[in-house]
Amino acid sequence: MAATSFVKLNASSSQWIGQRPVSQRSGSASVCPARRVSVVRAGSYSEELVKTAKTIASPGRGILAIDESNATCGKRLASIGLDNTEVNRQAYRQLLLTTPGLGEYISGAIMFEETLYQSTTDGKKMVDCLLEQNIVPGIKVDKGLVPLPGSNDESWCQGLDGLASRSAEYYNQGARFAKWRTVVSIPCGPSALAVKEAAWGLARYAAISQDNGLVPIVEPEILLDGDHSIDRTLEVAEKVWSEVFYYLAENNVMFEGILLKPSMVTPGAEHKEKASPETVAKYTLTMLKRRVPPAVPGIMFLSGGQSEMEATLNLNAMNQTPNPWHVSFSYARALQNTVLKTWQGLPENVDAAKQSLLVRAKANSMAQLGKYTAEGESDDAKKGMFVKGYTY
Ligand code: 13P
Repeated sequence: MAATSFVKLNASSSQWIGQRPVSQRSGSASVCPARRVSVVRAGSYSEELVKTAKTIASPGRGILAIDESNATCGKRLASIGLDNTEVNRQAYRQLLLTTPGLGEYISGAIMFEETLYQSTTDGKKMVDCLLEQNIVPGIKVDKGLVPLPGSNDESWCQGLDGLASRSAEYYNQGARFAKWRTVVSIPCGPSALAVKEAAWGLARYAAISQDNGLVPIVEPEILLDGDHSIDRTLEVAEKVWSEVFYYLAENNVMFEGILLKPSMVTPGAEHKEKASPETVAKYTLTMLKRRVPPAVPGIMFLSGGQSEMEATLNLNAMNQTPNPWHVSFSYARALQNTVLKTWQGLPENVDAAKQSLLVRAKANSMAQLGKYTAEGESDDAKKGMFVKGYTY
C-alpha cells in the first residue's frame, strides 16, 4: 500500500485532510505538505445539532428555564410557604411541563437533573410530556459557582470533570441541549482573570456538549448588581463576548450548533436612572452586532431579576427591526413569578396557574415576533424580582 499521511483536524472529527499517495501527485515540485486547515469541524452530531438549534430558535417560540438546582427550587417553593421536598418539586415541575398548549410558545425547556429522570404522578416521563408538545428537552450541566482564588472576590463555574460521560447519559435520557451558566460581576472588576476563566470554561463545555450531541447554551451572565451606567455594562459585555467567541473558535465549536443566553445591556440595578426598552434594545443589539457572528442561530435572553413585564417589553423592543439571529427568551424568574403566586401549592389552583404560565409564554412569544402590547398585564407581572447578590 502506498504511504499516505494524514492530519486529523480534531480528535472527535471524522474529517481527515491528507496528502495523496506519492504516485498520484501531479509533480513532486508542487507537493504541499499536509497542513492544518482552519475549518469548523464536522463531528458525528453536526447535522443534528444544527437541526436542534433551529427548532429551538423557531419563530414565536423561546425557552422555559426551570433548571433551578434543588436548593434554588427550594427558594421558589419557600416563597409560597412550601417545603423543599422531592414531592413538592415534582408537583411544581409537573404543573409547568403539562400545561396544554405550551408548545405553541415554548420550543425548549431546561431541566435540572432530577427532572430529566423524573416522572409525573401518573407515571409519565417529564421528557415525554415535553416531546408530545414538540418542546426540546434540555439539561443544566454545570455544577455551580465557587469562589475564584486570586480574583477580586469573583467566582468560577465548576463541572468540566466527567462532563463528557454525563452529557452522553443525558443524551440517552432524551436531552438535546445543555446549559452552563457562569457569572461576571461588574462591581468586582471584572478582573481579567475572571473573564478569561468564564470564557474558557464556557468554550470547553460547548465543545464537549457538541461532541455528545447536545446544543450548548452559552451563558456568561453579567449580573445586574451595581450602580454602574449602561455604557459601563456595554463595555464589559463587549469584553466578555469577545473573549467567549475567541475561545469558542479556539475549541473548534461549530457556531451553527450553539445558542447564546446573554444578559440584556442595562444600567446596574442600583443606578440612579432606569433605561427605557428602546434604550436597552439599542445598547443590547449594538453589543451583539459587534460581537456575535450571524452563523449563530439564536439569542435567548435571561431575565436576570427584571419584572416579567419589563423582560417582555425589552424583548419586544429588540424585535422591531430584523436581526441576523432569532432573538428570543430563556426566562426562569420572568416566566415563573405569577405562576407560583397563582398556584400557592394548592391542587385547586393548578389550572389557573397553568393558565398564567400560558399568558406569560404567549406574551413573550408575541415579543419575539415584535407584536407585544402590554395591555391587560397584572400588577404582579410589573413587580421587579431583582435580589442583590442573588445566587442560583
Ligand atoms: P433568569 O435570569 O431568567 O431567572 O434565568 C437565568 C437562568 O440561567 C435560568 O436558566
